[in-house]
Amino acid sequence: MGLVSTVSGWTLPAVPAGAALHPYDLRCEHLGTPQGIATRAPRLSWRLASDRRGDAQAAYRIAVRSDGALAWDSGWIDSQDTSASYGGAPLASFARYTWQVQVRPADGEAAAAESWFGTGVLHPDEWAAAWIGHDPETLPPFEPPADDREPRSVRTGSLPAPRYFRRVVDLSSVTAVRVACTARGLYELRVNGHRVGDGELTPGWTDYRYRVPYQVYDVTDLIGDGPACVGAVLADGWWSGSLGWDGRQQAQRYGKRPELLVQLVADHADGSRTVVGTDGSWRESTGPLRYADLLMGEWYDARLEQPGWDLPGFDDSSWAPARVVDTGHDVLVPSAAEPVRVTEDLVPVETRRDGDGRTIVDLGQNIAGRVRLTLRGAPAGTRVTLRHGETLDDGGGLYTANLRSAEATDHYVAAGLPEETFEPRFTVHGFRYVEVTGHADVDLVGRAMHSDTPVAGELSCSDAMVRRLTGNIRWSQRGNFVSVPTDCPQRDERLGWTADAQVFLPTACYNADVAAFFTGWLADLRCAQTAEGAVPDVVPHVMTERHGAPGWADAATVVPWHLYRVYGDERILRDSLPSMRRWVDHVERHNPGLIWRNRVGSHYGDWLQAGVRTSRDVMATAYFALSADLTAKAASVLGLADVAERYAGLRARIGEAFVREFVSADGRVSGDTQTGYLLALAHGLVPGDLIPAAVGHLVADLERRGRRLTTGFAGVGLLGPVLSAYGRHDLAYDLLHDDRYPSWGYSIKRGATTIWERWDGWTEENGFGPVAMNSFNHYALGSVGEWLYSGVAGIGQEEGSVGFRRPLVRPLPGGRLRWAAAAYDTPLGRLSSRWEISGGTLTLEVRVPPGALATVHVPTTDPSSVRESGTPIGDRLEGAPGVAGIEAAGVSGSALVCRVGSGRYTFTAPWEH
Ligand code: BGC
Repeated sequence: MGLVSTVSGWTLPAVPAGAALHPYDLRCEHLGTPQGIATRAPRLSWRLASDRRGDAQAAYRIAVRSDGALAWDSGWIDSQDTSASYGGAPLASFARYTWQVQVRPADGEAAAAESWFGTGVLHPDEWAAAWIGHDPETLPPFEPPADDREPRSVRTGSLPAPRYFRRVVDLSSVTAVRVACTARGLYELRVNGHRVGDGELTPGWTDYRYRVPYQVYDVTDLIGDGPACVGAVLADGWWSGSLGWDGRQQAQRYGKRPELLVQLVADHADGSRTVVGTDGSWRESTGPLRYADLLMGEWYDARLEQPGWDLPGFDDSSWAPARVVDTGHDVLVPSAAEPVRVTEDLVPVETRRDGDGRTIVDLGQNIAGRVRLTLRGAPAGTRVTLRHGETLDDGGGLYTANLRSAEATDHYVAAGLPEETFEPRFTVHGFRYVEVTGHADVDLVGRAMHSDTPVAGELSCSDAMVRRLTGNIRWSQRGNFVSVPTDCPQRDERLGWTADAQVFLPTACYNADVAAFFTGWLADLRCAQTAEGAVPDVVPHVMTERHGAPGWADAATVVPWHLYRVYGDERILRDSLPSMRRWVDHVERHNPGLIWRNRVGSHYGDWLQAGVRTSRDVMATAYFALSADLTAKAASVLGLADVAERYAGLRARIGEAFVREFVSADGRVSGDTQTGYLLALAHGLVPGDLIPAAVGHLVADLERRGRRLTTGFAGVGLLGPVLSAYGRHDLAYDLLHDDRYPSWGYSIKRGATTIWERWDGWTEENGFGPVAMNSFNHYALGSVGEWLYSGVAGIGQEEGSVGFRRPLVRPLPGGRLRWAAAAYDTPLGRLSSRWEISGGTLTLEVRVPPGALATVHVPTTDPSSVRESGTPIGDRLEGAPGVAGIEAAGVSGSALVCRVGSGRYTFTAPWEH
């Protein structure tokens, strides 16, 4: 099968041009222009750009205003920091603040940029709205139509109908109107006939037991003087719908029926404020949406529409009063991350109609999302059914066996208009193919949905298969970052498996700015930690008996530490350190001998490894060492010397125990598997003098297998980094280009457009892999992405560097590649690298953001002949003054090493192959 090109509009935005130092991409709490900020001292940050070499910000000044009045002027602060905490007058609730940052270099003009943020509820006593729901007494339950094509879930009567709520408010002389809204369930908010906001599946999924996020919207433009209608549609979602593999049973751990909370706050010209919240005066009804479930799908009967239901003039006398079900606000938290949005429409690449009235549509790309269906000429009552699948079976039909109990089926019952469109809103499917039955004159587009984390990186190279791999990784990230980092988007699972998230995080951070996304998720992780300190295997926590798995629960240390290193926000460590400590202490308490042998819960080993069994004790103990190490580092960043010392000591003792127990005198690591060596080498668990031997055993294992990998989730992301660190990136490239089983290329040869859960998702010998667990969209094995950025293209940061203040640009030309390029938005600004080999010369173009001091390794077979923009620099090694802004620092392996400040550089170097 040929290579499918990557369909994607998910691209890195251009950096605003300007020769002199200027700020751009302003963020508040890691978000663009958030509306519901409720922290007292929000973090304001910006990126920098400049065309000047060696440029840096010497000072900044922030001014924050509300309604023209100055709320904070930081004054000029001499600092290179590109973030600051708001330090002005106390923020008011439901207000809009504009803020400006000015920056200036040591010797030049100041430049400014502006943005804004809106606040949510800063004082809990300002909540006036109650939770409302539907009164089961007042309306009969949904009677499923008698029809043999009904889905199982309807036959069992388990899917209740979503509710429509409305209330009319009379307003006059308003200057601003904002609405805070949330649900235990999913909501769509409407004001005067318009949909409010572009978020999907709001309010998103969190650990609802402790945290229910609310969103704030500015609806001033939708409201004039006179009566206004506020309406909402409310569906089950994660709260009371199917969740995981236990179906609706499992979901009932949150609640039985969804609940809605809306608070409208209108400011008037005379300075007064009207607050209207959900209460018993709201009216409710069922509507055209007969059911909506994340796993099962949606049923929409257009004949039941009630036109104008969300407008003030509508007669709602047949609607019932809503019931107040709760008046507490304790769990309400401001929404901390980007919402799920539709980010791209996919036009089908093929539409096939078969004789049985079935239409099979191929979007050409496996996505998470839904479709927008247009049908023409369907008589009233026609039921069109949409089934979704990731792949086709051998007969060309939709393959759905791997969805397990997820029906992933939507139904639309036509109203009988010449043309009708349908787009479900409270469900999401993982699919590439759609089967449409019930009507032939249809067409559709695929709508990709995911948490709309801003694109932060881009990667490309000369090899089509590697490009496809890069695209597959990005699409798996998009398909699985749906409010929480999930394992898969299609089957009855879609849970926040902690190892999957943890191993993929470094790759995820390169692709997108996931600071806000993971900060919220970490809050859920901490909420769910047991009294003993165990961390659940999935976050948000939904499976009572599963926690404490090595490599899974260690997300508690790995995620905060990595986020801190990438984004430089110390608060992540401050918030997480107690949880990190409790987790490490828990493992230690149960394993005083420091070999993590006594389980503290589940153990999945090196999950989905290929044909080997990595020692579980080796893997667990390596993670124990890593977690102790990261806890020590976090404590030290926070200035807690005693705590740091305690965990550093523990780390050292675990290391000794590891060596004693698992590393033999000839450098073998117990079990002799690739993942065993990779974990031990990556986490510094092999004594220095035995490292060459251990690397030798790892290499021998690869060679013995004809240069094939055996790694599962725990090892796969380490292959590239570890092999390159020990000078064997030739082997890493062989694995990258391999298309035999097991390899990434094998799935690509078969036409994969996302990363498969398992190496044997489909094989020539056996066809489809084990149906009980065979997702074609699972990102864990895509954690090779980190190495594509940091190794192949060479964009990373030095050990000890935080927030990319000291970038390390060390590309590794190799394999079949003639060129590779990557760009990445660090907290300082854009960092990029592009190398190309042509006619015995390697050209390396590098861009370094202002304020960063980069170490660049220019690969070459003759360091003394390296030039930058035509000027020799390789012959100035002995501290002689070099080209402005470049310091040639030495030779390392086959590279000339230099230090450069901000700016663009073009190095040329001899490259003999
Ligand atoms: C999930 C994984 C997860 C694993 C743990 C699977 O069902 O899909 O990705 O990490 O279970 O065993």
